[in-house]
Amino acid sequence: MDSGTDAALECRAGEFSLPDDLHYLNCAYMSPLARAVERAGLEGFRRLRDPTRIAPSDFFTESDELRRAFAELVRADDPDRVAIVPSVSYGVALAARNLEVEAGQNLVLAEDQFPSNVYAWSRLAEERGLELRIVGPGPGDGGSGRGRGERWNERLLEAVDGATAAAALPHVHWTDGTRFDLQAVGRRCREVGAALVVDGTQSVGALPFDVGRIRPDALICAGYKWMLGPYSIGTTYLGPRFDDAVPLEETWLGRKGSEDFGGLVDYEEEYQPGASRHDMGERSNPVTVPMQTAGIRLLLDWGVERIQEYCRRLTRPLTGEASALGMTVEDEEWRSSHLFGLRLPAEARPEELAQHLEREDVVVSVRGDALRVSPHLYNDRRDVEALLEVLRQRYG
Ligand SMILES: Cc1ncc(COP(=O)(O)O)c(C=O)c1O
Repeated sequence: MDSGTDAALECRAGEFSLPDDLHYLNCAYMSPLARAVERAGLEGFRRLRDPTRIAPSDFFTESDELRRAFAELVRADDPDRVAIVPSVSYGVALAARNLEVEAGQNLVLAEDQFPSNVYAWSRLAEERGLELRIVGPGPGDGGSGRGRGERWNERLLEAVDGATAAAALPHVHWTDGTRFDLQAVGRRCREVGAALVVDGTQSVGALPFDVGRIRPDALICAGYKWMLGPYSIGTTYLGPRFDDAVPLEETWLGRKGSEDFGGLVDYEEEYQPGASRHDMGERSNPVTVPMQTAGIRLLLDWGVERIQEYCRRLTRPLTGEASALGMTVEDEEWRSSHLFGLRLPAEARPEELAQHLEREDVVVSVRGDALRVSPHLYNDRRDVEALLEVLRQRYG
């Protein structure tokens, strides 16, 4: 269970293998391999030397362990509601394919989302005559004094109306960390009968997510960022709306009785109970499944709230000084601390800044006129100081 906020966490660089002189502030790109995750992967490889070490029952028990770990991470009561997917685009395609829609309805999306939560929706809109409502933060504050994040949230809520079939949103925007109040959006969606489909890739694992409170119809997460897993594996929680959903693939592992490898050609109409019918084909990968489970177990040990709090404390001096150097950053209330954007001063040359950062071994993402900073427990004050030093030299 999440360890809560009782005791602050210390830096955990020792549990990763990053080079000492590298200032890696870019988990939003890809998580470095934690030692425990690496061990799980290597053990999986070693087992492959001798296939008798991979029992038919492992095809089920290891996947179910991952389902349990993910359910615990997002506070979902029922691990059977978790499907194992290869990517976010897969989970979103599953939701889009199974959403009941009528021509004239609309789909509400946040502006500039990662494409995996866009393309399946634009296809559905085109094929079924739906309006795609792409909602941004709007031009200015109109004299209201309200910040960008707050306005963006308001506009999203306003966009969901009686004709909305689904809202497809992240919890945290992948470019700048703007936080969306999914509890409020979820409530609004339920009022009007719309589905809430969440791409949790840039938040789940670093920012608490509570399925019981937000009640998403689908929560889809790639594993290789904040869930510390390897590439090509992710998880999708599916709510009751999708109980009778048609799987994209029809993997044989999702059929009733598939545990009996001798009887597989007694083809079976019925599915296994729960969401496992939506698992990707060959979901029982003896390397990646245990790695992903190990990643989530680390997060559960550390406590997601405490990870967020660690990032908040670590980056406070950065966001404070960056403002003094002419950069803008979203109000803390409307952004995450594990991922946020520093909007550069007008005269900044992002390409030159990127080169300067690279020379100093500071790794962040430059996105348009903003720096995306995304720390984790392997970072400490030296990393933040190294980034600040470059910013001082350029804009001080
Ligand atoms: C918000 C978000 N969603 C999804 C992904 C990955 O999508 P997929 O698993 O479909 O490749 C990324 C990758 O950067 C992302 O930032």
